[in-house]
Amino acid sequence: MDERLRKFAVLNNKGGVGKSTLAVHLAHGLALRGERVLLIDMDGQNDASLFLGFSSEDYDKSLYEILMGRGEVGLSDCILPARERLDLLPSARLDRVNAALYREPDVSRFLHEKFRGLEELGYDRVIVDCGPQRSRINDAVLYFVDGVIVPVQVEAAAVRAVGNIYEYLSDLGLDAGMVRMVVPNMYDQRTSEGKENLEFIREFFADADIVTEPIQRRVRITESGKLGKTVYEYDREASRQFEQIVERLARSNGKKK
Ligand SMILES: Nc1ncnc2c1ncn2[C@@H]1O[C@H](COP(=O)(O)OP(=O)(O)O)[C@@H](O)[C@H]1O
Ligand SMILES: [Mg+2]
Repeated sequence: MDERLRKFAVLNNKGGVGKSTLAVHLAHGLALRGERVLLIDMDGQNDASLFLGFSSEDYDKSLYEILMGRGEVGLSDCILPARERLDLLPSARLDRVNAALYREPDVSRFLHEKFRGLEELGYDRVIVDCGPQRSRINDAVLYFVDGVIVPVQVEAAAVRAVGNIYEYLSDLGLDAGMVRMVVPNMYDQRTSEGKENLEFIREFFADADIVTEPIQRRVRITESGKLGKTVYEYDREASRQFEQIVERLARSNGKKK
């Protein structure tokens, strides 16, 4: 593997916790720092693409052709330039891909094979935005990436479920050390409940030093997504929420232990 290529999945079993938001802002944040980044949209809702301003009318070839085809369509036929140094690999009909993968006895090499040639495209970083819940696609993604970034909504039910990712990795026979960052999201520091939940997350991961500074809840973040912009293009103050996390990721080497 090209030593420069670092592949991360943004994953959490729950929906609505900020996976797509985080994936898009990490990808754009790294690109703004000078890295060449590929964002792969691996969720059937296509939110990561929408947050960057791309709807399904903007592309006719997608991951579907790559994952279901026999090599007729190449990676570079499907990749869209999204921002300076940031490319997007959009998806379509992922439910069908997922169903097909249930018929595969072993998906551990599936994406390595389908994404053959990715190393030659010159990216410094690959960020995969995942759908919620366990799925065959997410299994395949976890076998493919070097590390996992887990956004956790700072709310009681969500923080109690933070351990699920370890169960998931263990069921796939993967190392718990793949979890590289846990990002508390939608934090409201004005409430004592918010503070307690953040504390719970920090204590849960006390040994690992992987919990980042929290991302606060900001209406500008929601708005920018709806407009197909990142906060780097929309609201400077809100973009600061991602600064430390991008910095931390930029420093990480992402290699498997
Ligand atoms: N820190 C935040 N502040 C305000 N809104 C946020 C924040 N993080 C995410 N959102 C919004 O919450 C919703 C769910 O986020 P999303 O990234 O789509 O979650 P997921 O991918 O986990 O389903 C979106 O409308 C998004 O814009
Ligand atoms: Mg999402």
